[in-house]
Amino acid sequence: MKVKTICCIGAGYVGGPTMAVIALKCPHLKVNVVDISKERIDAWNSKDLNSLPVYEPGLADVVKKARNRNLFFSTDIDNAIDESEMIFIAVNTPTKNYGEGKGKAADLKYVELCARSIARVSKSDKIVVEKSTLPVRTAEAVQTVLDSTGNGVNFEVLSNPEFLAEGTAIEDLFKSDRVLIGGQQSKNGKRAISELVNIYANWIPREKIYTTNVWSSELSKLVANAFLAQRISSINSISAICEATEADVEEVATAVGMDSRIGSKFLKSSVGFGGSCFQKDILNLVYIAQSLGLNQVSEYWHQVIKINDYQRQRFAKKIMNSLFGTISEKKITLFGWAFKKNTNDTRESSAIYVADMLIENGANICAYDPKVNEQQMLSDLDNLNNRTSDINKTALNFCPDPYEACKNSHAVVIITEWDEFINYDWSKIYNLLSKPAKIFDGRNILDKEKLKVIGFEIYSIGKS
Ligand code: NAD
Ligand code: UDX
Repeated sequence: MKVKTICCIGAGYVGGPTMAVIALKCPHLKVNVVDISKERIDAWNSKDLNSLPVYEPGLADVVKKARNRNLFFSTDIDNAIDESEMIFIAVNTPTKNYGEGKGKAADLKYVELCARSIARVSKSDKIVVEKSTLPVRTAEAVQTVLDSTGNGVNFEVLSNPEFLAEGTAIEDLFKSDRVLIGGQQSKNGKRAISELVNIYANWIPREKIYTTNVWSSELSKLVANAFLAQRISSINSISAICEATEADVEEVATAVGMDSRIGSKFLKSSVGFGGSCFQKDILNLVYIAQSLGLNQVSEYWHQVIKINDYQRQRFAKKIMNSLFGTISEKKITLFGWAFKKNTNDTRESSAIYVADMLIENGANICAYDPKVNEQQMLSDLDNLNNRTSDINKTALNFCPDPYEACKNSHAVVIITEWDEFINYDWSKIYNLLSKPAKIFDGRNILDKEKLKVIGFEIYSIGKS
């Protein structure tokens, strides 16, 4: 089988950018990206490249070059499946919020629906690629669904987890540290692996394409995210010690990271990690370990999440304590709502949890983010289900002008490390704030000494 046409089911943060890059780098392939959401597909097809559903530096340029050349976005899922020799599944796999495994296990209903559609539609042999992050051994279930409901065609299931990080997705896809491909070690399995290797080899050096058995590949994705998040929880736990002892967490992180065995990346202390992946994937790992009866293993990884929750609470409590123990009816300015800079994604952002705690204690929040609007902020708060949406609406206001957001405010709280915050006229902000003027820098991005000279009281993570 020669792969000429591929499709990807799921046009989200992974499906959209990954397929756009494959289309750009492989002009000989036709790439169809399909989704059940017409709104999303319309946005991908939007003439105005600022209206793409995903904001990523460099993405608009890639889409501009490849769209309607060999990259197509559509809601016609059946046709795309029928036309393709290789089908990627990149649908969401959120934490289950009902039934068995609620709060921990990955909800695989969307993946199963895709497998059923592929089985129903396919009239010729297909390679089915798991791009979504999935629990180890999901390929077994996918294969069973394909084989038992299909039309007698041969399906080869591969695992090809995605390692891109949001905000740097295009850079990550252009220069991946590695591409991981897991497949059956049978003759057909090996042939399918080599078809997928050939696609990536158009721009990724062969030595960076690592092929394994399916289960190692599926599990490695969860483990990679768990290891990354573990480093953040480790340094965040140390930040609490630093605040009590006059050690400086940035100096400690640098000193520790200079050991080449440890390395310097992912040691930036923060208000806590957010994003759609870390928490979801670790909870999934916790659930898998529990299901295997490995309770110590499960508890070990669960601690990474518990420290993250603790860090968010610790930060919110610090704000309250520093504002004389009461924030009732006080205006507090939040800078940043996205879970990290250079993305419009707010899933599991620490902003949601910090805002929620502040609102619970009576504060009025004025929030500003360069890429997130009020509707998104309110829906994030409403999704927590902690109070009625009417109360959220009264307690949280979006301010499109960051300076206006600071007027008569009792504190500025930095949640996301957007570069523009560093370049603000902080003297102007000082004059706008209620005194004493306080900044809570949840990302340690501001120059503490300079701001002190202006007159601010500044509270940083992991610094006394
Ligand atoms: P997303 O929610 O942005 O996109 C998923 C898309 O799938 C949505 O547009 C949804 O409408 C569509 N969809 C759901 N069911 C469908 C169906 N049956 N048919 C057609 N379309 C359907 O999710 P995402 O962030 O792109 O993540 C997708 C997967 O990739 C997840 O498993 C995630 O864990 C993994 N992942 C995400 C990232 C990331 O940075 N976001 C990185 C690596 C891996
Ligand atoms: C992560 C993984 O990095 C990526 O490989 C995987 O494919 C998806 O999950 P993502 O969640 O998009 O990517 O962003 P990442 O850069 O990992 O940041 C996650 C969170 O950790 C953000 O809130 C970020 O601000 C925070 N973080 C990151 C820290 O608090 N400190 C750090 O040192 C690094």
